[in-house]
Amino acid sequence: MTLELDDTWEPLREAAFAARSAAHAPYSSFRVGAALETTDGRRYAGCNIENASYPVTICAERVALGSAVVDGATGFQRLFLCADSPVPAPPCGMCRQALAEFAPDLLIVSEGTSGTRVEWRLSDLLPAMFRLPSSDGGAG
Ligand code: THU
Repeated sequence: MTLELDDTWEPLREAAFAARSAAHAPYSSFRVGAALETTDGRRYAGCNIENASYPVTICAERVALGSAVVDGATGFQRLFLCADSPVPAPPCGMCRQALAEFAPDLLIVSEGTSGTRVEWRLSDLLPAMFRLPSSDGGAG
């Protein structure tokens, strides 16, 4: 039994699928699409962009995040992900940390090629995000 989504998810879902079709993934053939929704309803999409120098690759989630931030958006409520795997893929560790900088409690839905969906809270996927010690009382 897959997760049912209400209609409010559909534009975000479509944005993620459209982004996945733009993925540059000639090395892994694993395309990923991501769409981030701001707290005021704007949407920003991203796809993975691979590189012949493998570590230069950037994930779909961080492409979406960068696109949002450069447009002045910093508050996010939902993320839709779709990847080329039958089982819904969660965001990688680096993307969890990147997203948590702005939205530690982000709601994430991921859909696999089988049509199965899974929902997570970012705070459950990354319960102890890295933060710099604050200047008032932190260790540093
Ligand atoms: N990838 C993403 O786009 N997001 C993730 O959260 C995990 C991995 C991409 C990076 C690379 O292009 C491909 O998936 C295989 O790792």
